[in-house]
Amino acid sequence: MFNARVHALINQEYILPKNQGFMKITFFSAKPYDRETFNKRNDGFGFELEYFETHLGPHIINAVEQTDAVCAFVNDKLNEQVLGELAQKGVKVVALRCAGFNNVDLPAAKKYGIRICRVPAYSPEAVAEHAVAMLLTLNRKTHKAYNRVREQNFSLTGLLGFNVNGKTIGVLGTGNIGAAFCRIMLGFGCPVLAHDLYPNPQLISLGVQYVSREEVFTRADILSLHCPLNESTHHMINPEAIRIMKKGVALINTSRGGLIDTKAVIDGLKSKQIGYLGLDVYEHEGSLFFRDLSTNIIEDDTIQRLMSFPNVLITAHQAFLTHEALDQIAGTTLRNVDEYLKGKPLSQEAAWVA
Ligand code: NAI
Repeated sequence: MFNARVHALINQEYILPKNQGFMKITFFSAKPYDRETFNKRNDGFGFELEYFETHLGPHIINAVEQTDAVCAFVNDKLNEQVLGELAQKGVKVVALRCAGFNNVDLPAAKKYGIRICRVPAYSPEAVAEHAVAMLLTLNRKTHKAYNRVREQNFSLTGLLGFNVNGKTIGVLGTGNIGAAFCRIMLGFGCPVLAHDLYPNPQLISLGVQYVSREEVFTRADILSLHCPLNESTHHMINPEAIRIMKKGVALINTSRGGLIDTKAVIDGLKSKQIGYLGLDVYEHEGSLFFRDLSTNIIEDDTIQRLMSFPNVLITAHQAFLTHEALDQIAGTTLRNVDEYLKGKPLSQEAAWVA
């Protein structure tokens, strides 16, 4: 049963169906911008939309009632327990409104007969451009300049940067986002080295050179991560990888926090092996990101240490957050559910590539 305590914890809104509307979609981790975009896009579909601001996990399962589809985001936990309980409640499909699906236990979903679909490519440029924004902020220290000038401090001391032009860029993962990032960096006049299980011939024709992961580590001045989080990529940035990198390397991660062994990166920053770090994602972001914790005591000492470095820039998983991307996410997510409803093959079903 949906109890009063749960009611008090959540922020709920119903949009009634316009058409037959027998398909209800229950959203978790829903923010005002999600509601706005999905409500607008739903005009063409007529689903019943129910929004919960809290993230999905065992604590909220009781709130799921008479719903056919759940719409989840990056930090919603879809482990065996949650999927099993969702299945018991009659949920048939989980529509992820994101590209990554590392938070979903796919074998468990299969076991319980729940189909998982996602939005594999929504404005990859949104994420790629954010990675570039992080790089240029770190490099030219515009975040520091902004604060200084507001305080009438017009001194330039301490703001020395470097040209990106001509620096060797290393890209791990050249799918949709990595490819967009490569194209931007080629435009900056940079040689681009990449590593991917499946080299992209179009990028090769543009001048991107595919090499081993280790060679990317050893040759890159600037390293950007764009591969999914899975067993083969978990902690790919570890003490050994950091040891073989160029001294002072700039490392940007807009992919998933688990790609980086955060403690190793802190050691790398302390030893100055890592010269710049830009993170839009963080290993333990689940209990922090997407919330205003400005009046809370943060118990996570690792992120506090990261935030204390002058050469570290952290954004809270906002790389996707553009009008264009949100619109595409909403359109594809609702289309995914619609495909399921109409018994069509799911064109965006989540599956690991072997
Ligand atoms: P994609 O699936 O188009 O590309 C991923 C690429 O990584 C593929 O080409 C794949 O072959 C490659 N790859 C897989 N395992 C690898 C390995 N061990 N070594 C090297 N390459 C490997 O995915 P897309 O759309 O480019 O997204 C990449 C990641 O970005 C997502 O998995 C997601 O985690 C993250 N993301 C972050 C967002 C944010 O707001 N910060 C928004 C969207 C995605």
